[in-house]
Amino acid sequence: MTRNPQVLFVASEAMPFVKTGGLADVAYALPKTLASLGVDVRVMLPRHAKIKQGYSDKLKTIATTTIALGWRSKYLGLQKMKLEGITYYFIDNEDYFGDAVYRGGDAENEQYLFFCKAVCEALALIDFDPDILHLNDWHTGMIPFLLKTQYAGRLKKDIRTLFTIHNIEFQGKMGFEVMQECLDVPEHYYTPEFIEAGGCANMMKAALVFADRISTVSRNYAYELMNGWFGKGLEGILSARRHEVCGIVNGIDTDTFDPQTDPSIAAHFSASDTTNKRSCKKALRDEFMLSTKLTTPILSMVSRLTEQKGMALVQHVLEELLCEDVAFILLGAGDAKYEDFFNYLAAKYPGRAGIFIGYNEDLAHRIYAGSDFLLMPSEFEPCGLSQMIAQRYGTLPIVRETGGLVDTVVPYNVYTGEGTGFAFSTFNAHDMLEAAKKALAVYRNKPVLRKLRKNAMLTDNGFLKSAGQYEALYKSMM
Ligand code: ADP
Ligand code: GLC
Repeated sequence: MTRNPQVLFVASEAMPFVKTGGLADVAYALPKTLASLGVDVRVMLPRHAKIKQGYSDKLKTIATTTIALGWRSKYLGLQKMKLEGITYYFIDNEDYFGDAVYRGGDAENEQYLFFCKAVCEALALIDFDPDILHLNDWHTGMIPFLLKTQYAGRLKKDIRTLFTIHNIEFQGKMGFEVMQECLDVPEHYYTPEFIEAGGCANMMKAALVFADRISTVSRNYAYELMNGWFGKGLEGILSARRHEVCGIVNGIDTDTFDPQTDPSIAAHFSASDTTNKRSCKKALRDEFMLSTKLTTPILSMVSRLTEQKGMALVQHVLEELLCEDVAFILLGAGDAKYEDFFNYLAAKYPGRAGIFIGYNEDLAHRIYAGSDFLLMPSEFEPCGLSQMIAQRYGTLPIVRETGGLVDTVVPYNVYTGEGTGFAFSTFNAHDMLEAAKKALAVYRNKPVLRKLRKNAMLTDNGFLKSAGQYEALYKSMM
């Protein structure tokens, strides 16, 4: 029998320390679930200045050294803490992680070129000998390259690498001289066979070439990625390696998102008794000063305000949707043009449209709990977590059929009565509007609404099944 693998999970953000999106949720929930299966998994992260105070006080420095990043000599501190039985290591350097989690542009490229090198150096300094590095998104993309080239033969073990794509839109593109200067990458690697893509050095491309295995966060996105539009220029390498690419759908942390115990919500409820969901709705209505009746459905969004999330469709038809008996709530931040649009909407429809521009975790929980529907019309969606969280709180998602939204939402079937939400397929504003109107019609049909709510709440969106698939994948790599 294969022995249990030792896994170091490396990411740029993780709950509960720092979160900007779904990666942080996964980087918390997946290691936690793997550990519950008996996998020896630890997590390595940048020590961002934004780490919540309560945690930063608990970090212990276990090593300090300096490392070369091209001509620069840089401090590398290693910190450690245990949380809920999991050991976390933090790469400390204030120059790189002392302000924004993602600085943007070449400043961000340098931040994470440093991170990749620091992780490789840290392998010799920590009290753990991983068999597998589970790397996530482009911020960790140069690690497989470094391990196969500059660090080959220098480590205690032949470490295998799994690279997970959470979002291929962000690739870590830069002029080759930036990468070369920081990591001493020899010129002969700057070809389409290795790290060049579309005239740039590309950290995600490097990972897709040099990682031992590749995964992404839903089955359907794994399939879509081989296709030009979704692959964003990297479909060639993904197709070439398709036998080493798999899709494992994300789950959510069912303890954090539990309507029976959630401390952020007004009242607790369950699939067998949803009476208190009404109290959550009432509280949400009051919080956003909605003047609609309690019986009027609330349709919400909790989202980054970007093209990916289908904001163009929302902008196009939301006012038409507001002609119906419905209230709209949005919690989000992102592109200025969409922030402006939602601010305009709030001013034009007081009492009907409740808008909060910003990031607020507790408020997100209250919206999931108190809403009737969650709109998620993504242009593409590697997996998506919001639709799963919504289902757990009996809030029916209205999604576009793309990526992980296909794998995680069962569209309502009027003939069989099956379903956990609503879906439309073409990326078209009026198709979205029709799907939303269908949802509003179901809202008026209480027995069907109750049935769909129950289906949604009873859907198993936890990480257990997928963690088992990761465990099997790790074992197959050893
Ligand atoms: P993505 O990672 O592409 O942004 P996901 O659906 O995978 O999308 O995950 C988004 C996560 O971030 C969810 O947990 C969602 O609740 C949360 N989130 C998104 N926007 C906000 C916000 N403005 N405030 C609080 N939480 C947010
Ligand atoms: C990315 C994707 C999102 C996915 C998340 C976690 O941010 O946009 O679809 O759920 O990563 O894997």
